[in-house]
Amino acid sequence: MKAPVRVAVTGAAGNIGYALLFRIASGEMLGKDQPVILQLLEIDNEKAQAALQGVVMELEDCAFPLLAGVVTTADPLVAFKDVDVALLVGARPRGPGMERKDLLLENAKIFTVQGKALNAVAKRDVKVLVVGNPANTNAYIAMKSAPDLNPKNFTAMLRLDHNRALSQLAAKTGKTVDSFEKFTVWGNHSPTMYPDYRFATSGGASVAELINDQEWNANTFIPTVGKRGAAIIAARGLSSAASAANAAIDHVHDWVLGSNGKWVTMGVPSDGSYGIPEGVVFGFPVTTENGQYTIIKDLPIDDFSKKYIDITLGELEEERAGVADLL
Ligand code: NAD
Ligand code: LMR
Repeated sequence: MKAPVRVAVTGAAGNIGYALLFRIASGEMLGKDQPVILQLLEIDNEKAQAALQGVVMELEDCAFPLLAGVVTTADPLVAFKDVDVALLVGARPRGPGMERKDLLLENAKIFTVQGKALNAVAKRDVKVLVVGNPANTNAYIAMKSAPDLNPKNFTAMLRLDHNRALSQLAAKTGKTVDSFEKFTVWGNHSPTMYPDYRFATSGGASVAELINDQEWNANTFIPTVGKRGAAIIAARGLSSAASAANAAIDHVHDWVLGSNGKWVTMGVPSDGSYGIPEGVVFGFPVTTENGQYTIIKDLPIDDFSKKYIDITLGELEEERAGVADLL
């Protein structure tokens, strides 16, 4: 039997937490032979902590053979102690009358504290995935607040956008979602993201040639994927939870266990590729192997793509400037 891996989840009593924890405990994220200890963080509030205890009771009632322990706490230093993987899901939602800038600042405070705590107590090779919005900038803040950890340990979730796009491509082409290779989403997890199928193939055939409809790309595909989160909020009255948890599982699964040569999208600190300034947490095509990701380099960027990439980068630069005083 392998030694247990410690997995921290913040916002564990929230909607995504509820869709996520049971799948981690059943081995879907790290493998069916990998025991896990869950270290669950919630805010220091009676209602949230009580709800968290209810979730733990349900975890117990599943009798998961791989669940080797559960810790609950309101203290990030306890939640992140010796963790191998940290899923930062909990974030301040936008309240009535709150501007985007206020949201950014409220979350900046949370992710500064959590970055410092990871820096102090997490395993030195901890893999951090930020789900809580604004995910790219929150990941950037946590990374900057953890100077003793490798910046490459910090990632943001664009896998939901990647999966959403595959589903749209499958519906358009009649091909299966798992047939697609070499697809990616560039940039910010926000409506400015740029889903890009120029390099994508299905069964060896070019997806761009199969579709052959630039009008559909510009006026249907890109906006549908970019605004999918808002469409779900409008329909459900709540933001996506099961699909977000599923994407978090896919992201960490592939990071730890490898993508077998397939491109996946991860929000990672730029190494300067494609002219994205170093450190900006940006959605890139990557492959993963042996617990490491590698950005796919030297793809041609045409004028159409450059326009989209510049817009999403501009938004990220603006977000970064908005929190600069705190870092
Ligand atoms: P939710 O409101 O149901 O749950 C969030 C939980 O986080 C709450 O229980 C809250 O008490 C907790 N929390 C807040 N601040 C915390 C802190 N400082 N420490 C620990 N816990 C804290 O929200 P949800 O539906 O689970 O969504 C969580 C976040 O994920 C939101 O920011 C949402 O916008 C984001 N999201 C991101 C993606 C993505 O693709 N990146 C997709 C969907 C949702
Ligand atoms: C999503 O993409 O579903 C979410 O990020 C939307 C949101 O604002 O919570």
